[in-house]
Amino acid sequence: MLHPTSTGSPCAARAANDGAGADAAGPAATPGRMVSTSACMQKIRRTLEKVAPTRATVLLLGESGTGKELLARELHALSRRPARTLVAINCAAIPESLLESELFGYERGAFTGALKQMRGRIESAAGGTLFLDEIVDMPLPLQCKLLRFLQERVIERVGGRVPIAVDARIIAATNRNLQTAIAQRTFRDDLFYRLSEVTIAVPPLRERESDALLIASDILRRSRRGGRVVRFAPDAIAAIESHGWPGNVRELENRVKRALIFAEGGLITAGDLGLAADEADWSEIPTLRETRRRAENQAVQRALALTGGNLPQAAKLLDVTRQILYNIVSRMGGSDGSE
Ligand SMILES: Nc1ncnc2c1ncn2[C@@H]1O[C@H](COP(=O)(O)OP(=O)(O)OP(=O)(O)O)[C@@H](O)[C@H]1O
Ligand SMILES: [Mg+2]
Repeated sequence: MLHPTSTGSPCAARAANDGAGADAAGPAATPGRMVSTSACMQKIRRTLEKVAPTRATVLLLGESGTGKELLARELHALSRRPARTLVAINCAAIPESLLESELFGYERGAFTGALKQMRGRIESAAGGTLFLDEIVDMPLPLQCKLLRFLQERVIERVGGRVPIAVDARIIAATNRNLQTAIAQRTFRDDLFYRLSEVTIAVPPLRERESDALLIASDILRRSRRGGRVVRFAPDAIAAIESHGWPGNVRELENRVKRALIFAEGGLITAGDLGLAADEADWSEIPTLRETRRRAENQAVQRALALTGGNLPQAAKLLDVTRQILYNIVSRMGGSDGSE
């Protein structure tokens, strides 16, 4: 789940606290969990929570590496569907000729080589969730068949005539522009409307206030082995905050993991991340109130990142009492600031 979760307010400080190795800061995110405190991702989390118990079909849109698959898994985990099966299929990775039998299954003798009956992925997802990744790559004839399933909730295996009722929640995702595909008539608009009962636009990492440093710190914390503490140097923190992250979280993960291999002396520099130290963007002018809030978030997060998440040390750096820092972290990150 998004971590921390308890409020909708952005919380850079909590992020760094968890991420940079503060044992005192409470449980940290487990691998494969969404790490975020930005307001936009908290909003997405609230949408997930509302949609999860329903049967609504969810369409996840967003650039490559933004976490669509992770969100699909999160939605499934929150859904409490009885069978708890999540079946994922990447429509771009399976040859067109195989995709139909992969999705819908086949009857014995349906084609040469069909020696026995086979259930498809849709049937396997019965009682659970079917995640259709890269949906825009689904061939048109199959789009038609999928549409029928979404409308009537029944399938027919290849070579079969008997309609089989399947109760599966559908989540679809793509990093490509579906409107363009619809305009080019490579994607059916009626299928789009069926799939997008709820549409979630996953924002690029560059638009998520403080999340980059939060996730980077989390990766460091999780990679800590044998008590070896690795920290970000100030120029690395500045670079993480100002880089545009065209490859989003995937790029961030790759850069931090690579830096971990090459960093010397327990300190990761901007150079280790393959980033230039100063890439600041001055095009956006926030309000003074927002600027103050961001600056406070940033200062707290930096202090926590620099001290490896050590709250007392961070308080010293910031020249505030531990209690004041704890209150700020709590206010920004959640109701109690300790999880
Ligand atoms: N908020 C997050 N916190 C922690 N890890 C994340 C977060 N978002 C994404 N990741 C990680 O980033 C990587 C890319 O995420 P994911 O595969 O879900 O992206 P995607 O949007 O499906 O990308 P693509 O469009 O290329 O398939 C994964 O390793 C995922 O675990
Ligand atoms: Mg994906």
